Amino acid sequence: MRKLLFAANWKMNLTPAEGRALITSLRANLDPDAATLSRDREVMIAPPFLGIPAAAQALAGSSIALGAQNAHFEAKGAFTGEISPAMLQFFGVSHVILGHSERRHIFGETDELISKRVAGAIGNRLTPILCVGETLEQRDGGRTLETVIAQLQRGLTAIQISEAHRVVIAYEPVWAIGTGRTATPEHAQAVHGAIRGLLDETYGREIASTIRILYGGSVTPDNVDSLVAKPDIDGALVGGASLNADSFARIVSARAG
Ligand code: PGA
Repeated sequence: MRKLLFAANWKMNLTPAEGRALITSLRANLDPDAATLSRDREVMIAPPFLGIPAAAQALAGSSIALGAQNAHFEAKGAFTGEISPAMLQFFGVSHVILGHSERRHIFGETDELISKRVAGAIGNRLTPILCVGETLEQRDGGRTLETVIAQLQRGLTAIQISEAHRVVIAYEPVWAIGTGRTATPEHAQAVHGAIRGLLDETYGREIASTIRILYGGSVTPDNVDSLVAKPDIDGALVGGASLNADSFARIVSARAG
């Protein structure tokens, strides 16, 4: 049985003080459900880099995991503007979002760079959340699966069979991110099923059945239940709706059917 994962991507939002306040009210909202949480689901929060120390303090003693929104693959060196896995781990970071479409499209990150970041995360015992997804143009051109499968194959090139169970995939159609236009559960399931099929061919059925595939793109308390009810949707990567404690708490408490 795969545990559900609900991951908050704060993007470039919230000062460290605002982030701490949000976590405090989220914890107040979630505590009665702590037992349920630990059994069948995990929660992760990824603040901006500078919000990580304050978030780590606010999360002390909770089972909510701390994530980062990117990470370099080298331990140190002349990489202006980058952060290494060890620097993140110093503050208790366990997860890292990689290949987000905003990194790909606004900052020009390529599949090759992203695949190095994924391998670096695995090599440093961070859990990578590898994001893939098609643009509106690719979708309208009937190239959704081709795009997603190519991003996945390239992003996972350096990952060995023995490491594959530690990877998390997030399917995030670019046209659904921050637009209020969520993919239908049927569309998302079709893509998640194809992703599971590729993982199956690459790593074998047993390992493919352990890999979590999250959906991301305008997830809200109102649509999360129908998404996670689908057999291959194992949780959500949430942007806008994770910036409010009540709405993220309701997402985290989604009913999977
Ligand atoms: P959104 O963002 O929930 O605001 O659409 C999701 C994401 O980009 O990870």
